[in-house]
Amino acid sequence: MGKIKHKIAVLSGKGGVGKTTVAVNLATALAESGYKVGLLDLDMHGPNIVRMLGSKNPTVDGEEIVPAEVLHNLKALSIGMLVEEGKAVIWRGPLKHSAIKQFLGDTKWGELDYLVFDLPPGTGDEALSLFQMIGKLDGVVMVTTPQKISLDDVRRAVSFVQTMGQKLIGIVENMSYVKCSKCDEIIEVFGSGGGEILAKEYNVPLLGKVPLDPKAAKYADEGKPITLYLRETEIEQVFRDIAEQVAKIVEVK
Ligand SMILES: Nc1ncnc2c1ncn2[C@@H]1O[C@H](COP(=O)(O)OP(=O)(O)OP(=O)(O)O)[C@@H](O)[C@H]1O
Ligand SMILES: [Mg+2]
Repeated sequence: MGKIKHKIAVLSGKGGVGKTTVAVNLATALAESGYKVGLLDLDMHGPNIVRMLGSKNPTVDGEEIVPAEVLHNLKALSIGMLVEEGKAVIWRGPLKHSAIKQFLGDTKWGELDYLVFDLPPGTGDEALSLFQMIGKLDGVVMVTTPQKISLDDVRRAVSFVQTMGQKLIGIVENMSYVKCSKCDEIIEVFGSGGGEILAKEYNVPLLGKVPLDPKAAKYADEGKPITLYLRETEIEQVFRDIAEQVAKIVEVK
């Protein structure tokens, strides 16, 4: 871990709001900007990074895991790459803790500018293990939808992050709106304003409002990160802006 300059976790109190989508696209956008990046999936029970990146396989070198190479400067590792497809991981906290320890300590990450952690929803074992093992990260990117139900859960996650002595980098509001492809009408499927409310409440930047884009869901299924494959689109630009801001905030820290 000593050869890794910056460590960033992506978290939310709520499931299904787009943590993995944000983690994948933050990592690929940073890699495209020329940084050396790692992406570690710490969602042991729902590892989605494998499909979102297209299945790549890690290898083993002696006692160490060598993460999968997604791009020449982007490495990724997920429990989903190590267990048989479709098989459930049925582990209690201590087993997850040892797996995370291996992913952090016994893995050849090499020199990295950024290591991005994708976490499961909520404030459970995985985030707790990560924070306890690594100590202080550069910060946590919090993901929400605009909906009040999401805000309730996110507030709990922020409280957890703060109690653990971690810094909140900013808020990403995902699924903010859909733009009609024919008439450009904006539909706010999950209401509006949630991201702004949280950013104000915690005095952190609203890093971006990511549109809900059907193509993004299709591409995720096909293992094509938005920032690499959906060129010249609004959603791609929003993710690039988010990555740029995160890099700026983390590097001036
Ligand atoms: N902006 C978006 N536009 C279209 N689809 C999206 C967008 N963001 C996320 N999705 C889709 O919504 C689903 C949930 O996203 P994702 O898996 O990133 O959420 P998550 O918060 O990581 O979920 P979990 O809590 O299960 O880990 C995925 O199928 C993903 O492809
Ligand atoms: Mg996820």
